[in-house]
Amino acid sequence: MSRSVKKTKVCIIGGGPSGLLLSQLLNVNGIECIVLEKETREYVLGRIRAGVIEHGYAKLMREAKCGDRMDKEGEIHEGFQIAFDGKLYRMDLKKYSGGETVIVYGQVELTKDLYDAHDRLGVKIIHKVENVVLHDIKSTAPFVTYRCGDEDFQIDCEYIIGADGFHGVSRKSIPADVLTEYEKVYPFGWLGILSRTKPVSPELVYVKSERGFALCSIRSQVLSRYYIQVPMADKVEDWSDDAFWDELKRRLPAEVSKNLITGPSIEKSIAQARSFVAEPMSYGRLFLAGDAAHIVPPTGARGLNTAASDIYYLYHAMLDYYKKGDSSGLQHYSEKALARVWKNQRFSWWMSMLLHGFPGRNQYEDKLQNAEMDYLFSSDVAQRSFAEHYVGLPY
Ligand code: APR
Ligand code: PHB
Repeated sequence: MSRSVKKTKVCIIGGGPSGLLLSQLLNVNGIECIVLEKETREYVLGRIRAGVIEHGYAKLMREAKCGDRMDKEGEIHEGFQIAFDGKLYRMDLKKYSGGETVIVYGQVELTKDLYDAHDRLGVKIIHKVENVVLHDIKSTAPFVTYRCGDEDFQIDCEYIIGADGFHGVSRKSIPADVLTEYEKVYPFGWLGILSRTKPVSPELVYVKSERGFALCSIRSQVLSRYYIQVPMADKVEDWSDDAFWDELKRRLPAEVSKNLITGPSIEKSIAQARSFVAEPMSYGRLFLAGDAAHIVPPTGARGLNTAASDIYYLYHAMLDYYKKGDSSGLQHYSEKALARVWKNQRFSWWMSMLLHGFPGRNQYEDKLQNAEMDYLFSSDVAQRSFAEHYVGLPY
């Protein structure tokens, strides 16, 4: 079978936020790469995900020359609210992190900015690829084959980046006896609604109620994102918009729910809560990044931010290699990335265990959960630790 052969330095599999951010950073620094994406650009931009960005991530977007719209339209948030027992508590991120903040800016907008930045540089992402196969990843001459339309292609490269998400092919290309997978599945999902309505509060509100968790989040002053914890077996079709709004109101304290403006959903989906890590994050000339290597439950919005820290380490390792001939960053990428990944795994797990309802569990654990909340609200030390994680651990 004949294949067209292309040559590049780095072949990136996956055109989601991880793959695009790395490609943009490499392109800006004159390091040639090719991105292969299974879906169309419209499809990638149709996936609604979280919307809180750590300051370190924001810095990386600026370095990639695509932070202008984020800085103009994203909202800087200095804190958020937690509702518990009918009362509201403010988490002062700026005060307890020593001056840091987060930016509320949707993942869709950020991904769009990355695509637009590629357009400005004249770099084309290859969409609608099929049958992507990684070859010879243990050798110094790895290559990737794929089909696009009616043609077969081969990319000869020096390194392969697996940024193809949880269901991608890259992780599966590492032999099973080399890879260890760690997983925890939570007994609930998050039912989310996007609505063209003014947010209920100027800051995010995380809610721990007797009926389960809820979150009031923000995309802009005219676009809101709300979530409620639902049992694992629930389907989107089980929830009309009215049923969603009614349940959300029941979980909010009266002083919040009285301000809730409801409207038709423009998107509605359920995300299952799951923690997952694959180790190691590299094998031969293949490096995994983002959801391809690890996922977290949505609580605390660490998923996208942890993907960004992988890219930070990979980008710097690649710069060291291509600009100074130093491959030590690449050699130590997996252990360096995993150290931060596990800290964010712990934080996401802890925040999920703190705020959700676990029907049917031992009442002793419910008591502990309430004591943990009490401790958080009454201890400066606990709030400092919380803020340190939420604004983003150092890279
Ligand atoms: N070949 C090419 N592309 C693929 C393949 C494949 N075989 N399999 C999957 N992809 C593409 C998907 O279509 C998707 O666009 O890889 C991309 C992976 O993107 P994401 O799943 O968004 O993962 P990532 O870029 O690591 O983003 C980090 O953080 O907030 C979380 O889960 C959230 O998407 C977010 C993630
Ligand atoms: C979101 O806006 O989608 C969001 C915000 C904060 C979270 C999780 C999700 O902790």
